[in-house]
Amino acid sequence: MREFKRILVTSALPYANGPLHIGHLAGAYLSADVYVRFQRLMGKDIVFVCGSDEHGAAITIKAMKEGLSPQQIVDKYHALFEKTFSRIGISFDMYHRTSEPLHHETSQEFFRKLYKKGEFQEKESEQYFDEEAGQFLADRYIMGTCPKCGNGEAYGDQCEKCGSSLSPTDLINPVSTLSGKKPVLKTTKHWYLPLDQYETWLRKWIETGELDGKVLHDPDVWKNHVLGQCKSWLDGGLQPRAMTRDLDWGVDVPRDIKGHEGKKLYVWMDAPIGYISSTKQWAINNKKNWKKYWQDDETALIHFIGKDNIVFHCLIFPAILRAHGDYILPVNVPANQFMNLEGKKISTSRNWAVWVHEYLDDLPGREDELRYAMIKNMPELKDSEFTWKGYQDANNNELVNNLANFVNRVMVLANKYYDGKVPAFDEDMDFIGPDDQYEAAFHDSELLRLFDDSHELCDFLRKFDFRSAQKVLMDISTRGNQILQFNEPWKTIKENPEAVKAVLNLCLQYVAAMAILSRPFLPFTSDKIRTLLNLPHLEEKGELNKMLDQLSEGKPLLKKGHKIGEPIHLFTRIDDETIQKQIDKLAGSSPVEEPSEKPVAPELKPEVTYDDFQKLDIRTATIIAAEKIEKADKLLKLTLDLGFEQRTVVSGIAEHYSPESVVGRKVSLLANLAPRKMRGVESQGMILMAENGDGKLSFVSAEDGWADGQVIK
Ligand code: 2FM
Ligand code: ZN
Repeated sequence: MREFKRILVTSALPYANGPLHIGHLAGAYLSADVYVRFQRLMGKDIVFVCGSDEHGAAITIKAMKEGLSPQQIVDKYHALFEKTFSRIGISFDMYHRTSEPLHHETSQEFFRKLYKKGEFQEKESEQYFDEEAGQFLADRYIMGTCPKCGNGEAYGDQCEKCGSSLSPTDLINPVSTLSGKKPVLKTTKHWYLPLDQYETWLRKWIETGELDGKVLHDPDVWKNHVLGQCKSWLDGGLQPRAMTRDLDWGVDVPRDIKGHEGKKLYVWMDAPIGYISSTKQWAINNKKNWKKYWQDDETALIHFIGKDNIVFHCLIFPAILRAHGDYILPVNVPANQFMNLEGKKISTSRNWAVWVHEYLDDLPGREDELRYAMIKNMPELKDSEFTWKGYQDANNNELVNNLANFVNRVMVLANKYYDGKVPAFDEDMDFIGPDDQYEAAFHDSELLRLFDDSHELCDFLRKFDFRSAQKVLMDISTRGNQILQFNEPWKTIKENPEAVKAVLNLCLQYVAAMAILSRPFLPFTSDKIRTLLNLPHLEEKGELNKMLDQLSEGKPLLKKGHKIGEPIHLFTRIDDETIQKQIDKLAGSSPVEEPSEKPVAPELKPEVTYDDFQKLDIRTATIIAAEKIEKADKLLKLTLDLGFEQRTVVSGIAEHYSPESVVGRKVSLLANLAPRKMRGVESQGMILMAENGDGKLSFVSAEDGWADGQVIK
């Protein structure tokens, strides 16, 4: 990404219809927070906005369920969100809400401008209407039988059982969830954004970064699964999309527009404009100019979202912004995939979730422990998994045994030997290096090494590779521990006190660097380390940049003679009992799926020899594009990347997976299967799938981060 004068970061506005769980955090908030804190530490002009999404059927349905008004629901969850985000250290510059008058005015102005420019098409269509309730039914207000899998509880926009996206008229036996009655079709008029007419520029902009002869972004730095999903939507052909709805909750269509009565803005038009109103509110509070952040080419706009929001942020919102004409488009949308929990999809309705506010109540003072475990497993490129055991291991083996242990040992030794003062030492003195026991290290060369590692950490952060960046932080801590271990100051203090001074001075520089480097990931710990070192808390105003400058010149971060504080333990072990309580809580809240009967031994296929098996060439691969095949309900056309080449494969998984949901998935490909034509498309191999007793399919694939094209044997 080229250098921009300023950065505007947005995190998806969460629907104010239920508490936040770790899946939310993993999607759009923690990654954004890490990135923003890093850029602040580098001295960048950066603003981080978000807010509650308080409109749409998500809210009114919840209100109906809880017997409250929509306003009561959004008030309740907005307050909870604000508090929870702040408790877990998500450092928004502005957390706004879409029910604020400022937002209503902003989105109405936007709508009016598009209307006046003639960007909308007015169209009539037939939509389901509940005669008893006297209202049109949003997609989620209609339930019926899924035409694809027969699930009797599919919604008007999606079947949650088979994942197919639907429209209300696809449902068999539709029923209104308001009255339980069969809805009737009634004509209504709406304003549509002609996305089909924008397809050409959208495709060019997404695929090449170019628009109006200017290069606006670099597609090479976009995540593959994001590009893949966009391409798959574009290949499927964009349709005009209604920007208004017949609802009684939401932003009114402006009164000066003829036919506005009873119409509200489509929530996916109003919500992203929420980013703009949030920025405006921030600007008002801080006496800044919001336009610089939205209307100047020198601003890098970056949207952090979960993968279910890709199409809205990469195609629909950019189309809205460009239709207006005064706005910049995002330079990147580093969407995350989903985080599962203990082997299952997080589900709000089944209470299969770790609720962030409950975590903070149950495990007080352990904010960074959760942040750490989640960043370690962040679903950056593919779905990932949170387990309580993994959380416990990350805490006990990494935070306690590595990071806290290192910092504590250095603090204890420096207090014991030097009365808590950073020791002066002979600059030309060598000591045993951490890498091998024969090569001596020098203080200044070790500082340069610390510079290189810090630099690498920053590079990963710039590339949105937060997992790797956090790993470098832990590697730095490991190296600190090795420096102590190889030099054993507790043994050599008597025979070689000068070398011990050099070693501990160096270790203190490591601790000082880690106070800054840990900040994006572990902000609370960073504060604690700064306190230990008797340094002021970080304001996140260029401190990392300054540190890199100092290290690159071989200058120490802590001066000789600087007085540090007393040692404390930054992290403590988490015992099995605490973890078990959390696991039990989860099990208690989810319907346990009992295995029906003891499985009967299946009849196996005839025996094969090892040589037979050897003939199969099975390779790791990634799905980079997917599309439906016309008139073939079961088939998807997949493009697979094998690292050394790309292949087209036709796979019978369309009834189980939508094209968007498989892009980015790792798969195993039987690569030497004779090519076969299916529905006119040549399939060059076959992907391996596991099939459950009830016919469900699951991908069989290599582990996280595995390279493509590797042999499976
Ligand atoms: O998926 C969601 O939770 C939406 N409320 C996200 C909105 S993002 C933005 F456009 F505001
Ligand atoms: Zn279905």
